[in-house]
Amino acid sequence: MNVLILGSGGREHAMAWKIAQSNLLTKLFIAPGNAGTKEVGTNLEINQTDFEAIKKVVLENNIKLVIVGPEDPLVKGVHDFFLNDTELKNIPVIGPQKYAAQLEGSKEFAKEFMVRHNIPTAAYESFTTENLEAGHKFLETLTPPYVLKADGLAAGKGVLILNDLQEAKDELTEMLANKKFGAASSKVVIEEFLTGIELSCFVLTDGKSYVTLPSAKDYKRIGEGDKGLNTGGMGAVSPVPFLTDELMKKIENQVIKPTIDGFQKDNIRYVGFVFIGLILDKGEIKVIEYNCRMGDPETEVVIPRIESDFLELLIAAGNKELHSKTIEFKKESACTVMLVSGGYPEAYEKGKEILGLNNVENSIPFHAGTTTNSNGKVVTNGGRVIAITSYGDNFNEALKQSYKNIKKINFEGMNFRTDIGFDL
Ligand code: AMP
Ligand code: GLY
Repeated sequence: MNVLILGSGGREHAMAWKIAQSNLLTKLFIAPGNAGTKEVGTNLEINQTDFEAIKKVVLENNIKLVIVGPEDPLVKGVHDFFLNDTELKNIPVIGPQKYAAQLEGSKEFAKEFMVRHNIPTAAYESFTTENLEAGHKFLETLTPPYVLKADGLAAGKGVLILNDLQEAKDELTEMLANKKFGAASSKVVIEEFLTGIELSCFVLTDGKSYVTLPSAKDYKRIGEGDKGLNTGGMGAVSPVPFLTDELMKKIENQVIKPTIDGFQKDNIRYVGFVFIGLILDKGEIKVIEYNCRMGDPETEVVIPRIESDFLELLIAAGNKELHSKTIEFKKESACTVMLVSGGYPEAYEKGKEILGLNNVENSIPFHAGTTTNSNGKVVTNGGRVIAITSYGDNFNEALKQSYKNIKKINFEGMNFRTDIGFDL
């Protein structure tokens, strides 16, 4: 079978790396991909949201399965585009249709879904410019910190956590009246602040049945001790060491099952990944967010821990036959450490030559923001550049291996966190 993966990050490289190992694969294409995906498949130079261009390459290359990495094409309706096209409608797309992608694309949609299906989450209210004053009054009834969330996609910047009431009121005005995040903040969800430790669960579903993938925990801030600006993610570990079987059962019963059942009750035909961001406090679990895709860099530790044929699972999901499959994990832990460009997550330069990749031993370098320049050199092409993934008997052993290999890699301005897993 010929397969296409849409996207260009570490997540897509990890998926490509795993799918390339499947006996069920004939040819693998990645659009647009990066310097790493090129090693395991064929990169296609098209934009991941140019649906007509996607159609052309799918037909030209006899592609029979499409896996969507990032949220953007899903929220813009790539799956719906396939279903509405006579030549594409029988080609399965892994990733939900536009309506269901609102689980990620609209905080209010996700909250209403959770409330409707009794899935534990923080209490909330949502506001628009029409009831801005009511929003200010609502803030007065809460105790700090105040959590303000732009309803729509805001490149990971749309959540504000503020300690000062006046500041929270001003920010609410900024978001609603002054469109701080453009159309994404024409609605704002204000929610109860939750304390506890965060972790993520991942599910692959055909809308009815599902398999639960390995759990993971990511480290979002740029600085040591999880301080400083938010990033796309600076590292991750899997499994989450404090996630006991008992706790996993609870998550399954209180969150995963009601979510999949909720799709059925709401008549949502969901095929794809559900990424569930959770917070755990004194044994109680609450959902912080849903994403309609896999996490990055979580995928760079989740996928390497899957023993089963991943492509076989994806094909089954696409054919709505996931009920006939089980998933096996590797026993080892995996960790990943992200190497990022100097200045990231603020302004940074691209095009820096990456040295030493060939010296890496017993780790897997998953490329994120890389490309090959006109001289054939692998150079930086984004803020997050390469995720160095390793296995170990526990996450500490895995981390040691990643840090050992990171010493061999260099590019101008290279930065990374030395404390991934510090809180475990
Ligand atoms: P979200 O985009 O909804 O996942 O929010 C981004 C981050 O903000 C989360 O990963 C949490 O660290 C934090 N966060 C979101 N909602 C809450 C909440 N209700 N209480 C505490 N922290 C939160
Ligand atoms: N690592 C968090 C995310 O993918 O959204």
